[in-house]
Amino acid sequence: MNKPKVIVTRCWPAEVESQLKALYDVQLNESDIPMNADALKLAMQTADALLPTVTDTITADIIGVDNRRVKIIGNFGVGYNNIDINAAKGHGLVVTNTPHVLTDCTADIAMLLLLMSARRASEAERMILSGQWTGWGPTQLVGQKVTGKTLGLIGFGRIAQAMARKAHHGFGMKILFYVPSAPEQAIVDELQAVRCETVEELLSEAHFVSLHCPGGPATKHLINGQRLKLMRPSAHLINTARGDVVDSHALIKALKAGWIAGAGLDVYEGEPNINPGFLELDNVTLLPHIGSASEETRAAMGNRVLQNISAFFAGLEPADRVA
Ligand code: DGY
Repeated sequence: MNKPKVIVTRCWPAEVESQLKALYDVQLNESDIPMNADALKLAMQTADALLPTVTDTITADIIGVDNRRVKIIGNFGVGYNNIDINAAKGHGLVVTNTPHVLTDCTADIAMLLLLMSARRASEAERMILSGQWTGWGPTQLVGQKVTGKTLGLIGFGRIAQAMARKAHHGFGMKILFYVPSAPEQAIVDELQAVRCETVEELLSEAHFVSLHCPGGPATKHLINGQRLKLMRPSAHLINTARGDVVDSHALIKALKAGWIAGAGLDVYEGEPNINPGFLELDNVTLLPHIGSASEETRAAMGNRVLQNISAFFAGLEPADRVA
């Protein structure tokens, strides 16, 4: 029997690509240059499975292409707001993601950003790199203490809970969270976490706010100018979720005007373009979407996609089916 044809849109960890080569008739992307809409449409017409990632926008137009052959989209990423999921459902297309395996690494990056922002680490490093450090000073680069402070989490899924564990058990932080539907009580109890009734309540109480909700139209600009004004002037905002959850113009205004003390960002509206306003600020820490970027996690994400498509081609239900 012919092996199913699989198209991978970006470079993947070498060990996963080797497995793909062994199991499938695979088209890899050695250049790692993202495919444009026409190339994605052609891929939909020529492969049985498309394996895209968060940098590929899979629109209704691409999904609805004439003579589509693809039956499963195995997304390399837990977030799947890059895919028009309603269009996929409408066309009976199976879509899977890669949950669980990136939880800890993404929570680590959220914690890293929190610490860097609180303790002004980027600004401090820039001082050394630019040759401007003249020596220790009692009032130099004074930031905010983290231990014992209050962390507010917007969204309370796996990554938020992993961050809450690190913050509560490692840094003695008090945990507040906002989420529309109640989580398991055992988790809330373990973290001595307090559920806020509204986003506004959480924003006005927390010393640090970390975003962990999904991207997409429902959460676009959830954090806007009005809400940033509710935060403490000493507060820091951390975003490892999706860029469009925050109105970047409003955040730049808030950071410039001192409505909040700092921000740590791993994701951006319209990335890889970054609002140039951020580049002029000292009180923002900027990382290039590296939440899941550890050797172990990236390999595990690839393996998770492999398991999903193997199940599908064996006529079974893929474990991480989202459409
Ligand atoms: C995801 O998986 O959604 C991340 O943003 C990329 O690791």
